[in-house]
Amino acid sequence: MNRDMDIDLFARFESNVRGYIRSFPTIFDTAVSATITDVNGKNYIDFFGGAGSVNYGHNSPLVNDALIHYIQRNGIGNALDKATSAKYDFIQRFQNIILKPRQLDYKIQFVGPTGTNAVETALKLARKTKQRSKVIAFTNAYHGHTLGALAVTGNEFYHDDYYGVPLNVDKLPYDHYFEQNIDSVDMLQRYLTDGSSGYDLPAAIIVETIQGEGGIHVASIEWLQKLAKICDTFDILLIVDDIQVGNGRTGYFFSFERAGIKPDIVTLSKSIGTGLPMALVLMKPEVDRWEPGEHTGTFRGNSHAFVAGSAVLDFWKDDEFSRQIRAKGERVEAKFRALHKRHPLWIHDVRGLGMIWGMESQVPGFCEAVSHACFERGLLMETAGAASQVLKFLAPLVIREDELTEGLKILSDAMDATVQTCSEQTLSQKNEVPA
Ligand SMILES: Cc1ncc(COP(=O)(O)O)c(C=O)c1O
Repeated sequence: MNRDMDIDLFARFESNVRGYIRSFPTIFDTAVSATITDVNGKNYIDFFGGAGSVNYGHNSPLVNDALIHYIQRNGIGNALDKATSAKYDFIQRFQNIILKPRQLDYKIQFVGPTGTNAVETALKLARKTKQRSKVIAFTNAYHGHTLGALAVTGNEFYHDDYYGVPLNVDKLPYDHYFEQNIDSVDMLQRYLTDGSSGYDLPAAIIVETIQGEGGIHVASIEWLQKLAKICDTFDILLIVDDIQVGNGRTGYFFSFERAGIKPDIVTLSKSIGTGLPMALVLMKPEVDRWEPGEHTGTFRGNSHAFVAGSAVLDFWKDDEFSRQIRAKGERVEAKFRALHKRHPLWIHDVRGLGMIWGMESQVPGFCEAVSHACFERGLLMETAGAASQVLKFLAPLVIREDELTEGLKILSDAMDATVQTCSEQTLSQKNEVPA
């Protein structure tokens, strides 16, 4: 551990595009479970969870033991998409532990290692399969930053015409986007049945069952079921992007299980490799229209991620993990609702499910100020939404009870202190006598 490290080095030599370092300005060094320690020995409870990449915790002994054993026996590292024993074990265990018990018949495509690679692949595959180019996405959607994925992402901050997007994408309102009872699936149904609506049949609809980056919007079961039905009726492929809320985040392995639907294509990344780079696309066999090698890339199938990802599938051998996720989620929800009740002028909504929760504020800058106050007190908690208006809870699913208790206490103190500071500032601004 080097205590003389200077955080300014990053500003000097790393691109201006740096993001999270600005929210959490320290140099992190070690991490165990849901606690991260910086080079100065200060601990932070992790409610950020690597944006959903470390659902199984930092340095899980299960993962570390499997990796150390694999490396010590000189297990092959890079293999592109050749057959390896690591990939064999992963596929076999994923089939037996995850897919079969859920009666899901999917083929697996390993793609470049990030979520956006999986989204890009899913969109391309859907367009090829249906030989149509239009895709429907939703308001506040977040699917990644390569051009195809960006085209289905909502937030205008990431967009510009000169990037070449949008690529024949229509955006529809997500569930509950309007306060009035406007249902986008009913709207779509009308478009598609009216021969003179001027609305072309899309190849696919891509949806997050809970929008994470977009501000913790939870689609209702009824809406998801209607969406699946309309896809079925009009021969449209349903793509569920489960990159952030899959891998157990909602209490189910797949987030769509709660709605009892079976999407045609599913994207997974982040925690599927326990935080090591890995992404994959699941597709119904009839959708697998690729020619051999037609969609390729060097880093498909990271052996170490296969080993790590296989090890944690044991969590899903029975219902205990789901039960724990729901129980911890209930504690988070109770605390968030209590904070909402205590600070109704500052927090106006609480939303979430399982272990993803958000508190929305209508006061500009409030959530960022709370996030900063949390950081100073030893808690990592990010904001979500286009205006950073939502405080987002996304801790590792395996967070220990004591870590959760401590993190919630810090959050509560940080929010109380921020409310006080902001109230004092507002008061003094009101009392300022113009010169
Ligand atoms: C739902 C969803 N899709 C896609 C992505 C993009 O993944 P990546 O950042 O690994 O490219 C994200 C990232 O947060 C996501 O939340």
